Amino acid sequence: MQTILIANPKGGSGKTTLATNIAGWLAGKRQRVAIDDRDPQRSSTGWLERRPALFPPIALIESGARRKDAKSLGLQWCVVDSAAGLHGDELRDALRPADMLLVPLTPSAYDMVATHNFLAGLAESKAVRQQALPIGIVAMRVDARTHSATELDDFLGGCDFPVVAHLRQTQVYVGCARDGASVFDLPRSRAEQDWEQWRPLTRWIAKHAAVKG
Ligand SMILES: Nc1ncnc2c1ncn2[C@@H]1O[C@H](COP(=O)(O)OP(=O)(O)OP(=O)(O)O)[C@@H](O)[C@H]1O
Ligand SMILES: [Mg+2]
Repeated sequence: MQTILIANPKGGSGKTTLATNIAGWLAGKRQRVAIDDRDPQRSSTGWLERRPALFPPIALIESGARRKDAKSLGLQWCVVDSAAGLHGDELRDALRPADMLLVPLTPSAYDMVATHNFLAGLAESKAVRQQALPIGIVAMRVDARTHSATELDDFLGGCDFPVVAHLRQTQVYVGCARDGASVFDLPRSRAEQDWEQWRPLTRWIAKHAAVKG
């Protein structure tokens, strides 16, 4: 089983959006996938409860379940949606079973400072270095026309970790959150532009899964 941890201690950075859409992509590829909802707000649990039965299935690992529960489901993938404020022992526990880590980041000065500190901590972490954990950043809610998008690009240019994708700010993600859908469940006419933006991200995941075997 491959475990993808989605983490950024900054609230509202896009963790659940990223986790649910990655799970939706994998489910659409007929992979056995679960979301491990570690957030007491249970946002991704709610999303799964709203998910139409006809869509490709995604299992739920409820907060507090043990890793062996995930194994007993015969899963190929586990996407961990972590809570805001993740740090210390909880962060270490979340990193240990992870095969890759994705850090969503929105173009706001507050988010960039908080994320800078988080990434600096990860870069210094002995566990991360020993594990050779692949870490990628995903720029979320990007509106290319704005000054803040330029500031985000400047910030990302100075990061130690690769920027895997830029996802645009769009009501498509808001609708997906409401409807238990991922962009991969939508018709081409509504989501083609977003599929295009996801391509480097899905490729990054596939590459690192293949490396780990
Ligand atoms: N690309 C996008 N375009 C428009 N809205 C977006 C986009 N990405 C995320 N959002 C919206 O931004 C809000 C915050 O996103 P999300 O809930 O995924 O963040 P989070 O990191 O999981 O938050 P929390 O820390 O509270 O768990 C949500 O309302 C979500 O629908
Ligand atoms: Mg969330």
